[in-house]
Amino acid sequence: MKYKRILIKFSGEALAGPKGFGLDGEVLARIAQEVKAVYEQGIEVGVVVGGGNFFRGMKAAVDQGMDRSMADYMGMLATVQNSIALQDYFERAGVSTRLQSAIEMKEIAEPFIPRRALRHLEKGRIVIFAAGTGNPFFTTDTAAVLRATQIGAQAIFKATDVDGVYDRDPQKFADAVRFDRLSYLDVLDRGLKVLDSTAITLSMDNKLPIVVFNMEVPGNILRAALGEDVGTVVCEI
Ligand code: GTP
Repeated sequence: MKYKRILIKFSGEALAGPKGFGLDGEVLARIAQEVKAVYEQGIEVGVVVGGGNFFRGMKAAVDQGMDRSMADYMGMLATVQNSIALQDYFERAGVSTRLQSAIEMKEIAEPFIPRRALRHLEKGRIVIFAAGTGNPFFTTDTAAVLRATQIGAQAIFKATDVDGVYDRDPQKFADAVRFDRLSYLDVLDRGLKVLDSTAITLSMDNKLPIVVFNMEVPGNILRAALGEDVGTVVCEI
């Protein structure tokens, strides 16, 4: 089944590439081409990106004793930097985009206006949602689920560096088993780190399927958007 409207969540760390910090032009260019292939299928796409390649609020709070709210606001600003970078690479790849921010910064981005975002999507623009939910104590995964729900996406695509959800860490255990499908409650019960628990319960309450797949495999984003099995689907079972 080909999706009509999806929301893709990219990790900020993925944008850093091998150097592990900041932005890697090659990764950004590749993501732009992959997303373009989806866009050319007429599939409507919303995008949320994390900020971990620049700053992680939770980590700064734990490691440096920073106030969690202040650290989280810095993390939100990191997502704005990544969103601007994605917008630039998408537009240079010939993809029409609009950037909306949960924290008003009108010189850089439109404010987040749900109905306007929907209109952009209907007009064939990719909408990038920056600054998380605009609130501290929420992850960008939760922001992604919230935006996916608000735009009526049929699924949220979690583009990551592993090819799905395993019963154990596949990098540590050679016999780890990958799930094709998994229920939201299974993810919570087993303590699987697919998305944080707030994001999982919000998806569950809104019956929003989560497709987890490896974005480092070329063509995977398009395959997932065309409904092929490329990883693990977390959904109602
Ligand atoms: P339509 O109404 O469908 O034509 O959408 P549009 O986004 O083209 O309309 P508009 O003329 O409002 O926007 C033109 C450009 O200005 C787009 O790139 C918008 O993203 C941008 N824009 C609109 N509002 C703001 C804002 O408050 N801040 C910033 N930075 N850009 C904005």
